[in-house]
Amino acid sequence: MATLRVELGDRAYPIEVGSGLIDDPARFRPHLRGPRAAVVTSATVAPLYLARVSAALRAAGAEVLEVVLPDGEENKSWATLNRVFDALLAARCDRDTTLVALGGGVVGDMAGFAAAVYQRGVPFIQVPTTLLAQVDSSVGGKTGINHPLGKNMIGAFHQPQAVIADVDTLGTLPRRELRAGIAEVVKHGFIRDAGFVDWLEASGIERLAAGEAEALTHAVVRSCEIKAEVVGCDEREAGLRAILNFGHTFGHAIESGLGYGEWVHGEAVAAGMVMGADLSARAGLLSAADAARVPALLVRAGLPVAGPAGLAAERYLELMAVDKKAARGRIRFVLLEKVGGAVLRGDLPEALVRATLDACTAR
Ligand code: NAD
Ligand code: GLY
Repeated sequence: MATLRVELGDRAYPIEVGSGLIDDPARFRPHLRGPRAAVVTSATVAPLYLARVSAALRAAGAEVLEVVLPDGEENKSWATLNRVFDALLAARCDRDTTLVALGGGVVGDMAGFAAAVYQRGVPFIQVPTTLLAQVDSSVGGKTGINHPLGKNMIGAFHQPQAVIADVDTLGTLPRRELRAGIAEVVKHGFIRDAGFVDWLEASGIERLAAGEAEALTHAVVRSCEIKAEVVGCDEREAGLRAILNFGHTFGHAIESGLGYGEWVHGEAVAAGMVMGADLSARAGLLSAADAARVPALLVRAGLPVAGPAGLAAERYLELMAVDKKAARGRIRFVLLEKVGGAVLRGDLPEALVRATLDACTAR
């Protein structure tokens, strides 16, 4: 087992990555505040892992409440979130209840947000079961839900007590969801670690797409190291943390423009990163050859390398104007200045952005 740490002073916490972790009471015991735990999960994950996690929590001394939510990005909403509060209140859960988010990024973001606001804040543990959640969303304390007018627009920063990433759970992940997680792995390489991109290009990407355990563990550990380092420097996204959103300004527009759930998050981020790299080259920050490495890698994992036909530039611009990185009416983009280095830029002429959208949209 690898143990990393997110260094955030009195909110610091461990990320444990390994095999067989969800069955081990010792993984959970140190992070339970009181005698009760409420496991929040999804209808897909519940039959796979809920009984095992609940058993480990009981063995760790907790009384366990189980809350099963409907699946999907379209359910990352107030209505679904309310089901968590309904269940917690009906069971008279108090402030010493620890929430356990068991599932992908949708469950993690929603359970984390529920923990941030239930009785003004209770502790929670992330138990991510998708590659995307293990390499990205379970780490860093961003929690929230979508609004019809914008993705992740309602939320809070609330750090977990611990992240317990059991790589065995990735064995049941559908191929499409595995690919979606690979998009965020690729992101971590391009924004922060050229050597990691080299590893992916050498054969890592095929090994990940094939679900090879050793490669997956390496990708989870390296991604978490990168994310933990960035979050440790800038928890609340005052500056550096924005680089973790490479591809996301375009990607979020694709997700909300098509309707949540049509393209999964990782697919939208993949096409968004191709756009981000293209824009970086147009802005003179990155060579065309380095920009081309982004789609060349993503296509090997079967990820989309162009935006969906039918989503017009006008619609992107409208949706990107409500991106959380927009400031004083200007859309800000995370761009690459080299392979392994990213910057935030808010001074790009609209014509350049339109040229990128034109070049990177499927016909
Ligand atoms: P998801 O949570 O929708 O999970 C994908 C599907 O896989 C779901 O149907 C889920 O039930 C199922 N599933 C989960 N684990 C499984 C397993 N082990 N075996 C079989 N099926 C399993 O999608 P995701 O890609 O994990 O997360 C995407 C979400 O994460 C988006 O809402 C995105 O905005 C968010 N996100 C948040 C952050 C953050 O920092 N908070 C970062 C990146 C993404
Ligand atoms: N996924 C972006 C962040 O965590 O900041």
